[in-house]
Amino acid sequence: MLLFNPQISGIILLILAVGIGCAAAQSLLDPIDANIQYYGRWNQSDKTMISWWPGAYAKFNFTGTTLAIKLRSTVDLYYKIDGGEYMQLPEASETVQLAEHLEPGLHSALIASKTEKDSIQLQKIIVDTDANIMPPAPAANIVEFVGDSITAGLTTSRGALTSYAWLVAESLGLEHTQIAYPAVCLVDGCSDAAPGMESQYFKWKGWHDDENWDFSRYTPSAIVIMLGSNDEKIVQQESSRFEEAYSNFLKRIRTEFQEAHIFVISEPLGALFAPTQSAVLSLTSAGDKQMYFVDSTPWVQYGKAFNDEAHPSDYGHEVIARKLFPYLQAKLAVPTQPLPGPPPNPNLPGIWQTMDIGGEESVGLPGSVSFDSADTFTLWGSGKDIGSTQDAFRFVYQQATVNTVVTVKVESHSAFASCAKAGIMVREHLAASSPNVILGMSPADGVIFQSRPIRSMDTKLAGSARASSPCHLKLERKGRDFFGSWSTDGESWEPVAELRGLNMAKDYYVGLAVTSCDPSVVSVAKFSEVKINGKVSQLGKPHLILQPNTL
Ligand SMILES: *[C@@H]1O[C@H](CO)[C@@H](O)[C@H](O)[C@H]1NC(C)=O
Ligand SMILES: *[C@@H]1O[C@H](CO)[C@@H](O)[C@H](O)[C@H]1NC(C)=O
Repeated sequence: MLLFNPQISGIILLILAVGIGCAAAQSLLDPIDANIQYYGRWNQSDKTMISWWPGAYAKFNFTGTTLAIKLRSTVDLYYKIDGGEYMQLPEASETVQLAEHLEPGLHSALIASKTEKDSIQLQKIIVDTDANIMPPAPAANIVEFVGDSITAGLTTSRGALTSYAWLVAESLGLEHTQIAYPAVCLVDGCSDAAPGMESQYFKWKGWHDDENWDFSRYTPSAIVIMLGSNDEKIVQQESSRFEEAYSNFLKRIRTEFQEAHIFVISEPLGALFAPTQSAVLSLTSAGDKQMYFVDSTPWVQYGKAFNDEAHPSDYGHEVIARKLFPYLQAKLAVPTQPLPGPPPNPNLPGIWQTMDIGGEESVGLPGSVSFDSADTFTLWGSGKDIGSTQDAFRFVYQQATVNTVVTVKVESHSAFASCAKAGIMVREHLAASSPNVILGMSPADGVIFQSRPIRSMDTKLAGSARASSPCHLKLERKGRDFFGSWSTDGESWEPVAELRGLNMAKDYYVGLAVTSCDPSVVSVAKFSEVKINGKVSQLGKPHLILQPNTL
């Protein structure tokens, strides 16, 4: 899968090398050579190869004992000789030596740009006099990654090369391209009136470029898209604009690449989760069988997985890459395989899953769960609280779609803190700041019905009722409306409150939640007669993916 057909191959100039620390005569080879594979968006301008976007790379084999390159730009460059470690040249310019004193014979080289600012302008490849450029290992499938600063690897140690995109592609032995840019939105005009990915993806360069990309240059087998964190501030109140832009974006990409498997990954912290999911559903329900929405919110939570509020650390990127690996592997296999579901959970009946929601520092002690029968569970949960803008608690859950009714009997609830909570939760996604509704018991208030209608916004109490365990609870979702009620006998129900017009994703999670409201202790709740009526999502459903839940 070469990016262009060379007109001139291997014009060799003999010169006496001066000033690059080598007395031997050398050959200056043209970078426009069929034996060099270029990945990313490279332009040929005269006899120079110019890369745009981060993580662009060139691969070739060469003979002889030395390698140098001549650049027309100053770039933060990484290179690798003979499959060794990546070496960094932070301000590479003019002629730079990449290898000396190699064993005579065949060697391999890879040269890559670190960030979107590092546009490589490659003028010459310099080898020993009688040496040559040879074809590298045969080209593999290409996977294209589209995203913002996360996909570009911003704040990681090696930029694009330590991003989840680079890591997962390399570990699958795939070639890859990163069409990503820090601060980029999906929609146009969101920050400093900058173009969003909805237009910039179709261009050569990442920034204010009108020249259309030539989609015949390469054909990815898979495209992975992760967008939404930068749009959230702008479109929070009108997420329909984002959804419409996203589904149009996906349609345009589908027009360019009819065979590609397109993975739309939720933003890891759940930004604009619902409209992202909805955009994918609009295409899959119209018949696109090679497009998948992947919920990445259980993959990385705060703590050592993040460098700051928004950017995963090197470790966080490694986790994302590990989680993404089986999805790409399944669909790039010949023949293609079904998407993986969660690993079987020997500690839980049926399709129940469990995890602590929230970063390790706010969860405190790890929670756990046991069951006596398919509808009787005991949950041990720690965590700061379920409330304000972020939650920390133990969750036992299933995936659900559209309308559900969940009923349980809270047999007992032992807690130290009066703000501890145990009850039924409906949750958009598994990141700490997810929109959610909980109908639970609390020592302070009896039965409480509260919700966080918008991600990362405040949680509000909708109603409460004087009651103590044992007590029956019923939480119902009907479209955008939620109803909470309680009962002493499970037959005659008293309403606690109702919440109307909540914009929650169509596919979401339902289950049981326990928080001790104090990360240094664990509280315990026993639930019996647990029933979920409604459509519970099934494994293998094309648009919906159950997540492995352990890091
Ligand atoms: C690519 O190179 C050609 C030839 O020099 C030039 O006309 C064109 O503007 C370049 N495009 C980009 C995006 O660099
Ligand atoms: C290029 O070099 C690599 C690593 O040395 C080797 O595995 C590969 O077979 C070489 N390619 C060819 C076509 O010889």
